[in-house]
Amino acid sequence: MKDLLRLRTSLSEEIETLLNEQIKVEAHSSATYLAMSSWCNRQGFDYSSDYFMKQSHEEREHMLKLFTYVNDLGGHAVSPEVTNIPQEFDSFRDVFEKALQQEIFVTQQFNRMADRCFKAKDFMTFQFLQWFLKEQVEEEYVARRALELFDVIGEEGTGRWEIDKNVRKIKYGEGAAE
Ligand code: FEO
Repeated sequence: MKDLLRLRTSLSEEIETLLNEQIKVEAHSSATYLAMSSWCNRQGFDYSSDYFMKQSHEEREHMLKLFTYVNDLGGHAVSPEVTNIPQEFDSFRDVFEKALQQEIFVTQQFNRMADRCFKAKDFMTFQFLQWFLKEQVEEEYVARRALELFDVIGEEGTGRWEIDKNVRKIKYGEGAAE
């Protein structure tokens, strides 16, 4: 039965498993960003709350892109269980530090997957992953620029409110704070 199912997809079991693992990572990222959005909102950092809400939507789109790819190729995309979402953060800065760490982890995941696809001669998935690798350059850039605001502006006095206001101005390729 298993062999018959395999004939319906050109995805190897290994690559399909990796793609499903990544679907889970993206779902986890989306839920984590949602928790970050809620935390910022509760602290009165409205712009950062919106920023993380937008990031959460993007991660869900990434998840769906992977999900659709697996099913389009005749594989079995698994709807992920999402658990262990951090709801509390030590500080405003901690939220942005965790966000950058998350993006770096995701980049490493895609690099690892691309390496496995190349070795397994799955060039179709290898090519599909290029979009995500390119996207990670932008995601890391934005997360890094946001975190840098803490050093550029400083947290003293009204610093955190200034940081919050500047978070919304970060655009890839256009520099950070004005
Ligand atoms: Fe889907 Fe931010 O990586």
